[in-house]
Amino acid sequence: MTETETLSTTTSSFRIAHISDTHVSPEYNRHNVAKLKNLLAYIVDEQFDHIAITGDITGNGEDGGYRSVRRLLKYFDLLQYDKLSVTIGNHDIFGGVHRAEDLFNFGSRCRTRDYDAQVRLFERSFKETFPNKAYAGESIFPYVKIVGPVALIGINSISRFHAMWNPVGSNGRIADAQIEEVERMLLHPSIAALKKVVLIHHHFNKYRPFSNSLGTSLYQKFEAQTLKLYGKDRVEQVFRKCGVDAVLHGHTHIEGIYSRSGIMFSSASLNRVRDGADVDDPVAKSQLGFNEISVSSEGTIMVSKRRVIVQPKGTSSRALDKKIYR
Ligand SMILES: [Fe+2]
Ligand SMILES: [Fe+2]
Repeated sequence: MTETETLSTTTSSFRIAHISDTHVSPEYNRHNVAKLKNLLAYIVDEQFDHIAITGDITGNGEDGGYRSVRRLLKYFDLLQYDKLSVTIGNHDIFGGVHRAEDLFNFGSRCRTRDYDAQVRLFERSFKETFPNKAYAGESIFPYVKIVGPVALIGINSISRFHAMWNPVGSNGRIADAQIEEVERMLLHPSIAALKKVVLIHHHFNKYRPFSNSLGTSLYQKFEAQTLKLYGKDRVEQVFRKCGVDAVLHGHTHIEGIYSRSGIMFSSASLNRVRDGADVDDPVAKSQLGFNEISVSSEGTIMVSKRRVIVQPKGTSSRALDKKIYR
C-alpha cells in the first residue's frame, strides 16, 4: 500500500528513487537492514529506473556494515552503474554514537579515524556504480554520470575532523578544488541538454529538529548541535549559476521537499524523525519513506514524497537477514 503526497509521473517518465541515511550496521542497527530490504523490494517492484542513496549508508563506517549493504544490493541486482548512484555521509567515515558511553570517546574516535582510508573503503564498496577515474589513487569524488536523461553529480561534503569546527564529524565542508571541479563538470557542453541532479549528504535548509519527537535518538540529539555545511552559500551559488535542477540530500533525518532560488531540494531518510502530527500514529510508524524524482519525456522534472507500507510477504525475513549479516 502506498500513499503519495504529490501526484507524479507518467509511465514514460524517467524515475529516480531517492533514499538516504540507511545506517546499516551489524552491531548497532540490525533492524535497518530489514527496513532497507523492504524498501528496495518495493522500489524494484515498482520498476524505478534508478536509485540514489545520499550517504550515511552505514551506521558506523565499519567493514561489516559495508559488506551487509553490498550483499543486500547484490541480492536485488542493484550494484550496477545504470541502476544505482551513491554518495558518502559522515557516518560512513566517522561512525556515530550508539550508546551513552560512546559520547565520551566519540570525539577521540573522530580525531583518530583515517578519513582517506574510510573514503577509499566507501569507494571500493560501491565500485560498480562509479565512473572510471582517469588517475588511480585519487578520490572518485566529485563524479559525474549520465543515466537516461539525467546527469548525476556526486559530491563528498564530509568535513575532515577539526577540534573546533568539526569535533564530532557531522559538519560539512567542500574543498575549493572539489567545488571548482563540480563547476567544470556542470558547465561541460556534453551535459548541457540533460537534467542536472546533485547527490550530496548535507542539507541546505534550516535544520529544525522536532524537540518532542519520540523518534529522536540519543545520537540525533547529540548530532543536532553540529549539523552544518560550511560555505553552503558559495556551493548553492555554483549550483544556481550552472543550472542545477535538483539537489538530493539526507543528513537531517527529516523528510521533505523544498525549493531555493529555482532549485528543487529533496531530503530523504530511511529513519525519519517523526513530528508531532504522526508521532503517535501506528500507521505512520510502519511507513517507510523515500522521494521520487521524475523527468517527463517533455523534460519536466518533479519531486514527490512517497510513503510506503511494506508488509513482509508470507515468510519471515530472518533467513535473508542472517545471510546478509553473516
Ligand atoms: Fe544520518
Ligand atoms: Fe549524516
